[in-house]
Amino acid sequence: MKGFFITLEGPDGGGKTTQAKLLLEFLEEQGRPGLHTVEPGGTEIGRAIRALVLNPRWRQMASRTELLLMAADRAQHVAEVIRPALAAGQVVVCERYVDSSLAYQGYGLGEDLRLIDQANELAAGGLLPDLTIVLDVEPATALARTACRTQRDRIEGRGLEFQARVREGYQKLCAAFPERMHLISAEGDVKAVHRRIAELVASRIPGRG
Ligand code: TYD
Repeated sequence: MKGFFITLEGPDGGGKTTQAKLLLEFLEEQGRPGLHTVEPGGTEIGRAIRALVLNPRWRQMASRTELLLMAADRAQHVAEVIRPALAAGQVVVCERYVDSSLAYQGYGLGEDLRLIDQANELAAGGLLPDLTIVLDVEPATALARTACRTQRDRIEGRGLEFQARVREGYQKLCAAFPERMHLISAEGDVKAVHRRIAELVASRIPGRG
């Protein structure tokens, strides 16, 4: 059976984790149990990188350092988790991947998009998702969902204008890559959002065998 690579993208507080779990339940019902993984932090090395890159203490972190740390996390994740799972025929559901670097470090922080493509190429070696779902939500709604957390991480702490640029970035990416990337409204009912995602995945994922 051929593997299938799905990524979930969107703003902080957009509900990616909830939707990833519901999607995995759906896939299991369809007889295609999947692997749930995340960036940054999908490997042991990645969790060490995540702790470093999101620590609010490092206010002086340069945007290129941030980009390269995300890329280092991705390189390890692709080598250790994603490629082996796809080679074994698994469905991989990954929260965040190359498009997060484009949306956050590119559209959000203003780093050159070509440099980000290069960093992504270095990390992922050309491995792109078969399908990318971008959860689209008003930045204020998303940020309010993260407000209950005890402490915002370094990137969540950047505020509304940053989040608005990230959202716009995702919208532009979806317009540029309509085959692979799909924008799904994440406002409102969790189950309704899940149904939209499940419908899309069911229409794209190849049958068994
Ligand atoms: P995530 O764990 O998805 O945070 P949350 O669960 O709060 O949505 O991602 C952590 C942060 O890392 C998030 O603010 C987005 C950021 N990020 C980047 O800026 N670039 C990247 O390439 C990746 C993978 C994540």
